[in-house]
Amino acid sequence: MRYSLHGNLCLCSRRFKMAASQVQDEAFVTLATNDRYAYGALVLGHSLRAVNTTRQLAVMITPTVSSLMRQLLTEVFHCITQVDPLDSNDEANLALLTRPELGITFSKLHCWRLTQYNKCVFMDADTLVLRNIDDLFEREELSAAPDVGWPDLFNSGVFVFKPSEETYRGLLQCAMTQGSFDGGDQGLLNTYFSDWGTKDIARHLPFIYNMTASRAYSYLPAFVKFGSDVKVVHFIGAVKPWEFTYDTNTGTVLTCEGISSQHELTFIQAWWDVFVAKVKPRVEAHQTQFSEKMGQLSLGSVSPITSPSSPPAATTSPIDSRTRQWQWEQGQIDYLGEDRFENIMKKIDEKVNNK
Ligand code: UDP
Ligand code: GLC
Ligand code: MN
Repeated sequence: MRYSLHGNLCLCSRRFKMAASQVQDEAFVTLATNDRYAYGALVLGHSLRAVNTTRQLAVMITPTVSSLMRQLLTEVFHCITQVDPLDSNDEANLALLTRPELGITFSKLHCWRLTQYNKCVFMDADTLVLRNIDDLFEREELSAAPDVGWPDLFNSGVFVFKPSEETYRGLLQCAMTQGSFDGGDQGLLNTYFSDWGTKDIARHLPFIYNMTASRAYSYLPAFVKFGSDVKVVHFIGAVKPWEFTYDTNTGTVLTCEGISSQHELTFIQAWWDVFVAKVKPRVEAHQTQFSEKMGQLSLGSVSPITSPSSPPAATTSPIDSRTRQWQWEQGQIDYLGEDRFENIMKKIDEKVNNK
């Protein structure tokens, strides 16, 4: 594992005039290490604003997030912090989780370094807020909802925490000595906060604060009874809402293989409703290559081009290989940049010569 204790950079937006009722020292925090998850962060941010949260909105990004996305994020979040990526590189345990890409979720640990806040609620970028959840700030570290796969453990998609450099160092120490049993942050956090299951029931958040959409069907009667109280939906799993296609003619999400229930589709529709109403117009305002092919909208068509008005001091690095592959698959090819003819020929030559 490679860790770095430096490199945090906070780009705090001055765009926001704070209402008197705004609480300055508490924040909702999320993470995006690439543009796909940045879309999630944008929708999450808008959903928090829609329920009139009085708390700050903070997002942590890594250098691989494009300038355009940074620009869009500054329009929604009060504070953008650039962090160094942390990766468990634990292929064996990630294989058990069947999510080889989640080593990077160790980057979440940087949230403990946001010590300008007294208390925070971390939320995965694949969560969507349906009702005000500011009451979460009455809870103590570490409060979280049970994981549906193993309810004696907590799910790390939504948790209340107290920023502290000491805790951050303790977590890194724990990572180096004990590692993470799932290769991601959830295994590590459950090891570090191992008394969550038994110490204090007040630290168990009700499921409606982290309702895993794809698992709702597994206890359908409970969903029928309590589903209308859900405050936060979590799109856990490999297929995220932004990977669906949206029909702009009908205003509906197109169903696809792997979708587990009608309920899940309803929540994915809710995610897209926020995206289309709040995020898409801003993307268009930045004059990107947002194409709508045959009335269908898919996020693969948004190119991470450099925006002329990108925030200062925020440098971008080449995008990660999964994002690149995803963009290729969506037909979004950077003909003038990385994917220019010369580079493609070079790649072909290398392959041919290796044979
Ligand atoms: N994440 C990220 N980039 C990645 C993978 C994950 O920024 O490539 C962040 C993002 O905030 C995401 C969280 O880590 O919501 C946890 O990953 P994910 O939600 O995919 O895990 P799941 O909830 O599906 O297990
Ligand atoms: C979980 C959580 C997610 C976490 C991942 C890796 O399923 O939902 O937040 O990042 O596992 O530990
Ligand atoms: Mn998640």
